[in-house]
Formats: sequence, structure tokens, C-alpha cells
Amino acid sequence: MSSSASGADAAATSNSPAFSCDVSRSVSPPVAPPAVGEVLRLMIDGWPVAVWNIQGNLYALDDICPHRGDILSEGGLARESDGSFAVVCPRHGWRFDMETGDCLHAPDRLRVWLVQYVSDGILVLACPDTHEF
Ligand code: FES
Repeated sequence: MSSSASGADAAATSNSPAFSCDVSRSVSPPVAPPAVGEVLRLMIDGWPVAVWNIQGNLYALDDICPHRGDILSEGGLARESDGSFAVVCPRHGWRFDMETGDCLHAPDRLRVWLVQYVSDGILVLACPDTHEF
């Protein structure tokens, strides 16, 4: 996880998943990253993605639960015993690791999007795998 930056606009930094990204998408219309403690819901080419700002670090995941399709960003966050964060599905409580997208209850997984926070305050997201855009 990257370190936090200072200043209001620079409060968010990108998380750095260990994978390469093939596809970058500028969020259109351009939007600023969410404030600390907030979540931003986006549709990217019809696909729901949520961007959380947790303690100044940005995490972007698919915003649809692979179990029964609920909206994950309407759930809460949990702090795991190792200090990491998980998003909790509001319907049945499945938890997903914010950095890996792994479900902590089943062999399901959310895709993790690479967040690039460019200098003019515009979010750019990159899909971690070749995706059906
Ligand atoms: S719909 Fe998310 S855990 Fe069931």
C-alpha cells in the first residue's frame, strides 16, 4: 500500500496491485477522487465500479457481488485481524479483501482496478485483465 500524501487535493494516493493493466479508462465526465471516508460509484462502459478512499488510499473494485449481485458499495467496511480492509456485502455479509478482491468466504473474486490519480485531479482506472468492454 502506498503512503498517504498531504493536502486536500492530494489526500488520496493510488493503491498498487501487483498486476499489469491492459486497458485504461479515463472516467467520463472527469471526476475527482472521493474524499477520505467516501465512496464514488461509477459506470465504466456499463460496468459498475466503486472507488473507496480509506485513510487516503484509493481502492477500486467491481461494485457487484458475485454471490447474488448486490451493490457492494452500499455495504460497510470491515477491518480484518491483519489490519487490512474488506468491503462487506449488504445482503449476506460476504467480505472481500480491498487489495486483492478475494472473497473471504468462497472462491469468488472481484476484479481490482488500478487507480491512477493524475495531477489535474482526474481519476483514471485501468482494468487488471482483458475485460469485455
Ligand atoms: S449478494 Fe452479496 S453476499 Fe449474497
